Amino acid sequence: MDVLLLLLPLLVSLSLPSLNVVESRQTPAVEHYVEYYAVSCRAYSASVTEFGAVGDGQTSNTRAFQTAVDHLSQYSSNGGSQLYVPPGRWLTGSFNLTSHFTLFLHKDAVILASQDESEWPVIEPLPSYGRGRDTQGGRYSSLIFGTNLTDVVITGDNGTLDGQGEVWWQKFHKGELSYTRPYLIEIMHSDDIQISNLTLVNSPSWNVHPVYSSNIVVRGITILAPVNSPNTDGINPDSCTNTRIEDCYIVSGDDCVAVKSGWDEYGIAYGKPTKQLVIKRLTCISPTSAVIALGSEMSGGIEDVKAEDILAINSESGVRIKTAVGRGGYVRDIYVRRMTMKTMKWAFWMTGDYGSHADNNYDPNAIPVIQNINYRDMVAENVTMAAKLEGISNAPFTGICISNVTIGLAKKAKKVPWNCTDIAGISSGVTPVPCGLLPDQGVEDTAACTFPEGSLPIEDDVEVQTCTYRINL
Ligand SMILES: *[C@@H]1O[C@H](CO)[C@@H](O)[C@H](O)[C@H]1NC(C)=O
Ligand SMILES: *[C@@H]1O[C@H](CO)[C@@H](O)[C@H](O)[C@H]1NC(C)=O
Ligand SMILES: *[C@@H]1O[C@H](CO)[C@@H](O)[C@H](O)[C@H]1NC(C)=O
Ligand SMILES: *[C@@H]1O[C@H](CO)[C@@H](O)[C@H](O)[C@H]1NC(C)=O
Ligand SMILES: *[C@@H]1O[C@H](CO)[C@@H](O)[C@H](O)[C@H]1NC(C)=O
Ligand SMILES: *[C@@H]1O[C@H](CO)[C@@H](O)[C@H](O)[C@H]1NC(C)=O
Ligand SMILES: *[C@@H]1O[C@H](CO)[C@@H](O)[C@H](O)[C@H]1NC(C)=O
Repeated sequence: MDVLLLLLPLLVSLSLPSLNVVESRQTPAVEHYVEYYAVSCRAYSASVTEFGAVGDGQTSNTRAFQTAVDHLSQYSSNGGSQLYVPPGRWLTGSFNLTSHFTLFLHKDAVILASQDESEWPVIEPLPSYGRGRDTQGGRYSSLIFGTNLTDVVITGDNGTLDGQGEVWWQKFHKGELSYTRPYLIEIMHSDDIQISNLTLVNSPSWNVHPVYSSNIVVRGITILAPVNSPNTDGINPDSCTNTRIEDCYIVSGDDCVAVKSGWDEYGIAYGKPTKQLVIKRLTCISPTSAVIALGSEMSGGIEDVKAEDILAINSESGVRIKTAVGRGGYVRDIYVRRMTMKTMKWAFWMTGDYGSHADNNYDPNAIPVIQNINYRDMVAENVTMAAKLEGISNAPFTGICISNVTIGLAKKAKKVPWNCTDIAGISSGVTPVPCGLLPDQGVEDTAACTFPEGSLPIEDDVEVQTCTYRINL
């Protein structure tokens, strides 16, 4: 299998002399070097300033970004290219990427999302959703958008994408949106994607949305949004195969990671699952939502998900499965271990009647199948209720396994810590004692729940080389 990219375990910015913008202007002949490790280096590089961009936070650079990418796309079949974004505040609407391409942001570069709707082209709804998530019909293209691409790297020395989401949140609350809000990054129908070492703030809606894609690595990303901002999900792998999310820090108004695969009859017809997903070393603060959500749009199926070394702070729930009659699809073979939770409403939550349908044409016979869900080796403190596990009547969620989990309840905890309906499974070494539908197998069997030791293809590290780019400032 050809996992081409990735893994920039480290990324250094070298420059001679120092990187200060003012200084560089004073000595325009100085060459600026960017060095980093990647599987393949690009043959050609350019700075967005060569295409007329102005980093004053006020001039629109939409045309400059798009002209730059269009120009660089000629190298896609000829060694690839890099677009460098220097220090500055670069206001822009949506622009599209190309293949064999790296977008590199300097640590003091901020790509500032325009608040002018005319800077945001309207594109078709996703076929697996049938409509926009906010409105019927189309949706605004994402700030950084790519479709039908291969080998794309979006990275930086912790440079920033600022969605300036406030105006969009207001329009959402007032019902004034003409189309579904844009995301910060959406990559569609693509292969070999890396998104790394960036900070994303105040997205209008979701932050990172790989969809119908494969071989995706998201690492070293910081995502910050007010905890009351609407639908500011962190990372949403959607109908994707082979995805690795690691070393991310997310504070958000919605789920930190939401795993999806299409909505009701549209997702069933499209039939593309999210599978072979690995989440490692995620820190999440999400007071009104989940650390890791599976669904609610899961109609194409979700399977083979491994998550480990997760830190949840002040979040509504740790792992949450959301589904409903009419969704169809499945959530199966889910493995989570070593999750530490501090101040939670529920450690575990499953909801079989989430509702929220795309329209009224959903099939009432499309019953989702939830099966083989494993949680182990966890400690939680200050939890209001250990778990609320509600399956679907006559179609229970089965194969639920919880082992070696210690949940410390809050002073104002609910009297009954577990409430289970329409589920089946086992537990062992869990405190407080789980509900009767998860009978205890005895403490000697604390490793009762599986966590697959083998690694998924996306977990294999690939050899990297050192790439150096010379940037003429
Ligand atoms: C970006 O891609 C979308 C989807 O293919 C397309 O509708 C739009 O016209 C493209 N924008 C530009 C500026 O090429
Ligand atoms: C992109 O890929 C999808 C899925 O393979 C295909 O249906 C679509 O026609 C492609 N679009 C373009 C513009 O090539
Ligand atoms: C990146 O920047 C964000 C926001 O300033 C900060 O919180 C985070 O710690 C930085 N990450 C790294 C790796 O420096
Ligand atoms: C990129 O992030 C990784 C951790 O995800 C870190 O090891 C590396 O030093 C970072 N590089 C830079 C230039 O920040
Ligand atoms: C139980 O979980 C804790 C972490 O919460 C871990 O340190 C310990 O090794 C686990 N015990 C077993 C038997 O796996
Ligand atoms: C416990 O959780 C409550 C909210 O449920 C919070 O107000 C309190 O500060 C938390 N206590 C600790 C010690 O974290
Ligand atoms: C448990 O959940 C069911 C269904 O959601 C609810 O009707 C019931 O009141 C709950 N029981 C307790 C003890 O909280």
